[in-house]
Amino acid sequence: MIAKVDIPKSPSAEQYSAEADQGDVFTAKEPLALFADWFEEAKKYEVNDPGAFTLATVDAAGMPDCRVILLKDLSEDGFSFYTNSQSTKGLQLAQRPAAAMCFFWKSIRRQVRVRGMVSEISDAECDAYFATRARMAQIGAWASQQSRELPDANALKARIAELEAEFDGKEVPRPPHWRGYLITPQSMEFWVNRPFRLHDRVIYSRQDDDWREERLYP
Ligand SMILES: Cc1cc2nc3c(=O)[nH]c(=O)nc-3n(C[C@H](O)[C@H](O)[C@H](O)COP(=O)(O)O)c2cc1C
Repeated sequence: MIAKVDIPKSPSAEQYSAEADQGDVFTAKEPLALFADWFEEAKKYEVNDPGAFTLATVDAAGMPDCRVILLKDLSEDGFSFYTNSQSTKGLQLAQRPAAAMCFFWKSIRRQVRVRGMVSEISDAECDAYFATRARMAQIGAWASQQSRELPDANALKARIAELEAEFDGKEVPRPPHWRGYLITPQSMEFWVNRPFRLHDRVIYSRQDDDWREERLYP
């Protein structure tokens, strides 16, 4: 027989319960700064990967697609991530360089949506970041033909072994298909849970060099 156990509440349970009012969470006037504030809060509570977001793209027929990606950087210019430019998303972005991102931080009950145009990060910047990655991850970037059919699980292992021999004693250069992308936000929407589902939504839309701020019904 199993003794009755206490299930401890997670640290966020009280402060971030569905019934709690989180108070004034709109701590910055400018959306990228506001994102940075919320991200800092998410980092304290999110168990895994507060930088994980859903990246939506469309294919040539206009059919939407999405997958989870890790945020690499946030700057005044926007949001960056790294991937294989020959993957499904890479090909979609080459045809239609527009994307939407959605962060959902469950632990603090907040969501941020971003829409914008996508551009490639310079080769020099990609090289610099690639050089900081673990050697095995560098070899993996050469070995994985991301999103294409893998004939059998051993094919990847065999390719990795070949590449390890090829690069033995040498630095692993960045594969030309491994690259970073920058999403320049055109709009950013911040959603925070409020009691009785009367949630707050604030959307910022880029207007020339400024942002227009509007509230939306939940
Ligand atoms: C938490 C998490 C983080 C991920 N981060 C990345 C990433 O930074 N870059 C990447 O190419 N794929 C990442 N992936 C894998 C993608 O979700 C996806 O499987 C892959 O990029 C292929 O997508 P595509 O076929 O649409 O191109 C991540 C998956 C998860 C669950």
